Amino acid sequence: MKKWMSLMMAAFLAVPVLSGCGSSTTPSTTEGKATTEAATPQDENTDIVVIGAGGAGLSAAVEATDAGAKVIVLEKMPMVGGNTTRATAGLNAAGTEAQKKKGIEDSQELFYQDAMKGGYNKNNPELVKVLTTQAKDSVVWLESMGADLSDVGRAAGASVSRIHRPTGGAAVGSNVVSTLKDKVKEKNVDVRLKNKAVEILKDQEGKVTGVKAENKDGKAYTINAKAVILATGGFSANQDMVISYKPELKGFATTNHPGALGEGIKLGEGVGANLVDMAEIQTHPTVVPEKGVMVTEAVRGNGAILINTDGKRFINELLTRDVVSKGILDQKDGVAYLFFDEGLRKGLKAVEEYFNMQLVTEADSVEELAGKIGVDKDAMTQSVKTYNDAVAAKQDKEFQRDDLPLQLNQGKVYAIQVTPAVHHTMGGLQINTNAEVMNKEGQVIKGLYAAGEVTGGVHGGNRLGGNAMADIVTFGRIAGQNAAKAAK
Ligand code: FUM
Repeated sequence: MKKWMSLMMAAFLAVPVLSGCGSSTTPSTTEGKATTEAATPQDENTDIVVIGAGGAGLSAAVEATDAGAKVIVLEKMPMVGGNTTRATAGLNAAGTEAQKKKGIEDSQELFYQDAMKGGYNKNNPELVKVLTTQAKDSVVWLESMGADLSDVGRAAGASVSRIHRPTGGAAVGSNVVSTLKDKVKEKNVDVRLKNKAVEILKDQEGKVTGVKAENKDGKAYTINAKAVILATGGFSANQDMVISYKPELKGFATTNHPGALGEGIKLGEGVGANLVDMAEIQTHPTVVPEKGVMVTEAVRGNGAILINTDGKRFINELLTRDVVSKGILDQKDGVAYLFFDEGLRKGLKAVEEYFNMQLVTEADSVEELAGKIGVDKDAMTQSVKTYNDAVAAKQDKEFQRDDLPLQLNQGKVYAIQVTPAVHHTMGGLQINTNAEVMNKEGQVIKGLYAAGEVTGGVHGGNRLGGNAMADIVTFGRIAGQNAAKAAK
């Protein structure tokens, strides 16, 4: 077994705490009334049940409540946020005010082309059209509730800077989750933590009629509802499920929270939902071995380079995740070092988390750093010099990286060892542009909606960084709006 595999196996078992998790330990919003007594809970009636209180579920709950629907949110974990809490790099959108202020020329068409190209054109074009035209409104919507998406950075596979994040390049997920959490609280939405949906109910015509759930005491109850929204996320933390679709990922760690087990996909299948793209599973290239901490793509986007254990740069760091992951796995021991300097650190608040977690090796010179991480000093010094010369010449002859934002020669220098880990499951429930779930016959399952990573089709064969945040908010909103209409 290669060294990186055993390291990653250890990380999978360690169930890591990742960067950008500022709010992951925040207390619950509300404890559901049905969960406070140990007695058998009564059956209930509502307009809409949202399953999952991550970014997609909370967005759906806010929209549905705004449209006048009575909403119950079921969340199996003891806190809201799901994987969204761990999102760091940002949210992709084209044509925003923040881009205009920075003089970035972008268009929804270019955004669309990047997403399709990044996904190897396996994406559902209609869903990508919705994503790329409506993500801008998602930014406006989040900002109207107090989110900070004023900074714009570059992500891998994007033609221009379009990844929106808080001021100074801070992590996006905790900011968005706390915004949505405050909103559902303000609107008195009934959010039930440690309440798990175990079955979706339907009538003889196949229309969804509610959910069978278990409360925090493990007692079963039924919620009769006019519509159900599945927003349970993907299955990256379910290693058996991952390898059943992609055996070559056996032994890989994951960047995901421990609840990302794919249960929503099973719930959908229980009422006949069609699944698409299930074997399309993505690794994130830069995850700290053994610790399982994802080092955000924004570090490369802001200018960091990758150096192998021979002290050499080996790839254009802004190629898509699948390509960079393979590039790293092809290096000795399947690991590489992210290299950056004080100048980059000053422009990207998100990296402070890695310093706090003591994941960064630091030094006063490249030579000293090379000695500390045990790579060839001359080779590493030469690699950094060649890169800095390329930045000055605005041309990377070695690896054709087209975005060369800064020379890495300001103050202290830093390195973090990285290797790929399972990050995003692109496959899931088939939906249409109304976020309605489709059955195997190509028909809508009446009353069932889905949004976010539980669905398939938006990202095709490979998701671009920043498109998950755009997806969960945009389709979460659509699901909430349409479920509320259906419930009327
Ligand atoms: O690298 C990251 O911060 C991950 C972003 C994403 O998955 O979109």
